[in-house]
Amino acid sequence: MAATTPKLVVEGASRAFDGAPALAPTTLAVAAGEFVSLVGPSGCGKSTLFNVVSGLLEPDAGRVLLDGADVTGRPGAVGYMLQKDLLAPWRTVLGNIVLGAALTRGVTAADRAEAAALAERHGLGGYLDHYPHALSGGMRQRVALLRTLATGRDLLLLDEPFGALDAQTRLGMQRWLLEVRDQTGSTVLFITHDVDEAIFLSDRILVMGPRPGAIVDELAVDLPRPRTLAMATDPTAVEAKRRILATLHGEAAA
Ligand SMILES: Nc1ncnc2c1ncn2[C@@H]1O[C@H](COP(=O)(O)OP(=O)(O)O)[C@@H](O)[C@H]1O
Ligand SMILES: [Mg+2]
Repeated sequence: MAATTPKLVVEGASRAFDGAPALAPTTLAVAAGEFVSLVGPSGCGKSTLFNVVSGLLEPDAGRVLLDGADVTGRPGAVGYMLQKDLLAPWRTVLGNIVLGAALTRGVTAADRAEAAALAERHGLGGYLDHYPHALSGGMRQRVALLRTLATGRDLLLLDEPFGALDAQTRLGMQRWLLEVRDQTGSTVLFITHDVDEAIFLSDRILVMGPRPGAIVDELAVDLPRPRTLAMATDPTAVEAKRRILATLHGEAAA
């Protein structure tokens, strides 16, 4: 089998704030097309790891490789949906989707056409002229995700995108995200504190320990796709959940 370059490699990346370590030296690799989730206690360094991967934050040590190229400390190479990724309230849905271009090089007619097509393909076609205040929380998160997709990057970092949504809306969003991913072929690195969500979405789950965060467990989710809600009671899912909760809460494995 020919060796393939992973989409993303993080090599021993670490980061401290004011001399206090927040992210312990962390190494991971994500294959092209893979969906990998990161779970861990609040404040353990998950968003810090994303900031490092995105190039917005320089690690104190280590490297970030995208398609084999060193992009450490170089923003712009990945699609990043921040934990508090707010829509611009004075811009329409279409205006928000093209915001990346607006802030960097100016929006072209082609940007608008592409954004409209993207919205059309992913269920937002009827909302192009709406303003964020007129949308539900779920719809706003869809717009924020399409805005991330519109940057054209094929690695998406999604930091707790559904964290503020109610359980019912969240289920719909999870299915929608998997559809979007299937259609775009994106590679996804996803942060969540919801273990069921991580199992439902992921090919692989990385579990981080408390600050300074390090990856303390890693498990493959061997469930077929497309995923269905009924899979939550599959022995594979039940065992994965037991193991992750035991790791997170320090309970002895049952
Ligand atoms: N810019 C910063 N300056 C100082 N401390 C920070 C900064 N960013 C994050 N931290 C601290 O680093 C730790 C990890 O933060 P974060 O990566 O946001 O955690 P998580 O996303 O896992 O909840 C936390 O204790 C947080 O308060
Ligand atoms: Mg965070």
